[in-house]
Amino acid sequence: MTAINDVTDYTRDGEVGVITLNSPPVNALSAGVRDGLAEGMKAALADAGVKAVVLICEGRTFIAGADITEFGGPQKGASLFEVQNAIEGAAKPVVAAIHGTALGGGLEVALTCHYRVAVPSARCGLPEVNLGLLPGAGGTQRLPRIVGVQKALEMVTSGQHVPAKDCLAMGLVDELVEEGRLRDGALAFARKVIAENRPLKRVRDLEDKISAARDQPEIFAAFRKANARRFRGFLAPEYNIRCIEAAVNEPFDDGLKTERRLFAEVLTGPQSAAQRYGFFAERTAAKIPDVPDDTPVIPVTSVGIIGAGTMGGGIAMNFANAGIAVTLVEVKAEALERGLAVVRKNYERTASRGGITSAQVEERMALIRGSLSLDDLAGADLVIEAVFERMDIKKDIFARLDAICKPGAILATNTSGLNIDEIASVTKRPEAVIGLHFFSPANVMKLLEVVRADHTSKEVIATAMKLARRIGKIAVLVGVCPGFVGNRILGARQREAQKLVMEGAMPWDIDRVLYDFGFPMGPFAMSDLAGLDIGWVKERSKGESIRDVLCEMDRRGQKTGAGYYDYDENRNASPSPVTEKIIHDFIARSGANPREISDEEILERCLFPMVNEGAKILEEGKAIRASDIDVVWQNGYGWPVYRGGPMFWGGQVGLDKVLAGMRRFEATMGEAYKPAALLETLAQEGKRFPGAG
Ligand code: 3HC
Repeated sequence: MTAINDVTDYTRDGEVGVITLNSPPVNALSAGVRDGLAEGMKAALADAGVKAVVLICEGRTFIAGADITEFGGPQKGASLFEVQNAIEGAAKPVVAAIHGTALGGGLEVALTCHYRVAVPSARCGLPEVNLGLLPGAGGTQRLPRIVGVQKALEMVTSGQHVPAKDCLAMGLVDELVEEGRLRDGALAFARKVIAENRPLKRVRDLEDKISAARDQPEIFAAFRKANARRFRGFLAPEYNIRCIEAAVNEPFDDGLKTERRLFAEVLTGPQSAAQRYGFFAERTAAKIPDVPDDTPVIPVTSVGIIGAGTMGGGIAMNFANAGIAVTLVEVKAEALERGLAVVRKNYERTASRGGITSAQVEERMALIRGSLSLDDLAGADLVIEAVFERMDIKKDIFARLDAICKPGAILATNTSGLNIDEIASVTKRPEAVIGLHFFSPANVMKLLEVVRADHTSKEVIATAMKLARRIGKIAVLVGVCPGFVGNRILGARQREAQKLVMEGAMPWDIDRVLYDFGFPMGPFAMSDLAGLDIGWVKERSKGESIRDVLCEMDRRGQKTGAGYYDYDENRNASPSPVTEKIIHDFIARSGANPREISDEEILERCLFPMVNEGAKILEEGKAIRASDIDVVWQNGYGWPVYRGGPMFWGGQVGLDKVLAGMRRFEATMGEAYKPAALLETLAQEGKRFPGAG
């Protein structure tokens, strides 16, 4: 074996030369890896006894893409194009041996190899779109030449990781080899290529899959139209589509040039900066400074959930999906049955769309056992309380759990903002108490706020963070404060939206501005969807707010066909003259005059206080870092990922501008708008929030 450099080895196995990369954690195409590949290819080509070459990786994966940390920095080492040309132009067949994930630049390298083999568990994809990018190393030009235009369009605009079996079916992989025996399988395949004297298959020369789509812009127009909703606001999908169009309509080398030009454009644009930031922010959130990665975790094999409502049922599904047994406890048999029926219905809906098999529906349902007694939670490793948001009820439950649950069990509450220290105080084991704030629908939403109370132990925190990953959630550790991080910042925005209405902006104006900014919907459309009567009590309603009046008129949102908006039979919303009149009456009664409010003012009034609230959260240490706040807002509240998150966005806009806005608001509207000290300091120093852009 010859060490090419510290991440690459070259060795010979009979007539096959083997280049092995070993650059943890994911064999990204760093300068060292590129150099190793270039030199490895030279060694293999110069090795007279070698008739074919295998490219394989050590560790958990094949090359998972370009090294994203290098983007924007100076180019060092061999360029990726040089490496690819050396492989594709080689006079000896090169076989890529894929395990783990061949992604982005990794798949693009594999596409310059003449053959590809993979183990069944491998996946291939071009996920650059999720970083606001496009495959910039020929991926958009080579992929359609193998899989055809339609599949290529799907893959580059979704970034999906395609299972090896499907890759085989579409020709992206030539052969599947036995799991766990990739090297042997790849060597055997290479020997077959030598023995059968198979040709050097260069993807760049293939034409048959793309020629049919040539000069047919309608194919691309139809794809854009069909996916307009999914792509709304994002630049990268469109750029990816244009590259596939170039692959179809331009000669290969011209197409490559187009791809390179468009890649440079997206790479230097603000959206990709935000999306790459989001990628690392998500991974950074898993790192807790005082809870090191090797902190012991508590094994969790059984979970108890109290409350079989929408939330409890959704939470139960997460664990059952991960193969973890759940005991779902309700007070009344009827509620329990209803809850379990909803869970079943959700699973069956997924099965009817092909997401899981009917057998899986049964397997998962079998993991969820209903119960009417808290005593059945005695053996649970983790109990999550998901009942009504009332402190007295929660305290009562925790006192009982403390008596029932085994020593070492974790006692969690799904409260969305109550004081967890107070809840923990009724137990004799406050170190075992933690908040696990799921977002609705809990089986779908990715975010999990893990709330650390005063006495929560490090083991319990480490367990919660790791468990979150196991059930497919993105966990962010936050501290106890009203609303925690997400709802607290949401509160700042909601207050402004309500105030703006009392100043003369219509709900649909505010919704439109926030929708155009990139949120899936504005606050009033959201209220209509959720139901205006959440938390509204008819008997106590005295028409004191716009919401009160709407509810009193039975305008309770989409479900009653009217709320802030009017709805037609297909639930299409339109601005409501009724709501408008109610608003004008309220304003008149307050003695104020409605005024014209510009879109810019609406945006600043809604978003600057969010940034300011985030700064206060950081000052108080309720979030570890600014990027954690952004992860919360991207994954739990629909902040457009191409704008990073409130803290990143604040930095992009300029913290001095945010500060000036807050000062302006404070001058006219008072103390509530006082800028956070952290915002003042950073703005004066011309800085951004640390780690947020
Ligand atoms: N560059 C640099 N670092 C990367 C990286 C990359 N492409 N991919 C992953 N990493 C780092 C992560 O930041 C993380 O670092 P940390 O441990 O310090 O936090 C570590 O590798 C492990 O990553 P994950 O925690 O995500 O590990 P998983 O096992 O859960 O997932 C993965 C592995 C599926 C490969 C996932 O990391 C991933 O999706 N990576 C990004 C893949 C990608 O987007 N590739 C395209 C890059 S752009 C490109 O190739 C441009 C080209 O067209 C020119």
